[in-house]
Amino acid sequence: MNQPGREIPNNVDLADNPRLQRALQHWLPRYHSWWHDMGPDGFQDHHEIYLRTAVSADSKGWADYRYVKLPEYRWGIFLASKDEKRTIGFGDLLGEPVWQKVPGEFRNSLRNLIVTQGDTEPASVEQQRRLGKNCPSMYDMRNLFQVNVEEGRHLWAMVYLLHSFFGSDGRNEAEELLERRSGDDDKPRILETFNEPINNWLDYFMFTMFTDRDGKAQLKALSESAFDPLARTTRFMLTEEAFHLSVGDTGIQRVVERTAELMREMRGGSEDVRTVGGIDLPTIQKYVNLWFSTSLDLFGSEISSNAANYFAQGLKGRWDEPTYNDHMALDDVYRMETYEDDKPETLEVPMRKAMNAVLRDRYTTDSELGLKHWNNVLTRYGMSDRLRLPHYRFNRIIGVYSQQRHDVDGQAISEQQWAQEKDTWLPTDADRDYVESLMSEPVTEPGKIANWIVPPKRGIDGKSWSYEYVRTEP
Ligand SMILES: [Fe+2]
Ligand SMILES: [Fe+2]
Repeated sequence: MNQPGREIPNNVDLADNPRLQRALQHWLPRYHSWWHDMGPDGFQDHHEIYLRTAVSADSKGWADYRYVKLPEYRWGIFLASKDEKRTIGFGDLLGEPVWQKVPGEFRNSLRNLIVTQGDTEPASVEQQRRLGKNCPSMYDMRNLFQVNVEEGRHLWAMVYLLHSFFGSDGRNEAEELLERRSGDDDKPRILETFNEPINNWLDYFMFTMFTDRDGKAQLKALSESAFDPLARTTRFMLTEEAFHLSVGDTGIQRVVERTAELMREMRGGSEDVRTVGGIDLPTIQKYVNLWFSTSLDLFGSEISSNAANYFAQGLKGRWDEPTYNDHMALDDVYRMETYEDDKPETLEVPMRKAMNAVLRDRYTTDSELGLKHWNNVLTRYGMSDRLRLPHYRFNRIIGVYSQQRHDVDGQAISEQQWAQEKDTWLPTDADRDYVESLMSEPVTEPGKIANWIVPPKRGIDGKSWSYEYVRTEP
């Protein structure tokens, strides 16, 4: 550990950066002990996993694949390549050169954005640490660990920024990222969704589909930032994030396909695949309702002066900012249905104040693609459009819709109606118990798969899905 620059794959000239080396020298052993304690439970010492490792930021050959023990994974630091001519793409400073250092007046805001993003990365590893013990196949187990190590690298990406650009308070924040723990009473993770453990694979696939996709949306917005190192760091993170989202999207698709298969095999048109060990469509829909609605809360309130400031100052843009016509967003309004004394009314919100809602809308369009994949499977089995996203007003805890109960179609309902109906919309304890009962034993033999899911179409890195992705030491 004497010269981190030698061992850590990077494209930030780490070997010639003694200041960053010194900061990392202190942080790295702590990171490794965090990983050992909070990384995948039971798979630290005797298993070798066939994993992808980022080794450059070259779009053609940015990663290699090899067997590696989890604690020996080579976490690296990569930024997307620099565009010397890049200018600020939105807000009050539109057209000015981007910043290579943090402007004093935006220091706190930028640090908060980076810490909030950074905190979700180790949080998700902590939430998912027990899932190796009830996986549906060796292929899925490998993908889980791939996502976990890359979330670890995303933490590094944010810590690199804190260490390089934020002096001693940045170093303190980097320490605290390793001290908070998902679900801890005294030092919980910053965002509430990241404090719930994820103990079954249906929750896990929903998390990677919907919650990781919020991560994608945030990264898309930050990758437009005027603070160029943040833009370049997040841009590279997005290449890894794409895989995480595909784990969720294809994972649910495979569950839906198994459900459809079982429904076809059952006699008399019964749809209750629980009798044959599958996950019924109403249960899948409930999980969609839960995870989509809680992920929407991660965007923050629909009307937000913080979001307006971030946009005005050039800190956080929109998803694919260049595709918008007006990069000032000063004259436009966002029409939002809100409530005034419990009565619905349409409010014209100045566009900058509605940036969280703008990002949420883009996220929703992106999420719809997954729904389309799953419904396509059902169509192949003679059923059409059975699964859908709930309305964005449904089950909200944060933002302008949190004051009032809504059904899955977005209609306002009373507290009493909510109490009567909610078990038909959201997973109950019994649903969770059932789902978890299917996963009490892991399936880890190559080529074998649990009864409630079909195998994937393809494996990893050109290999078959039944390849031995996880080897156990004799
Ligand atoms: Fe991440
Ligand atoms: Fe992710």
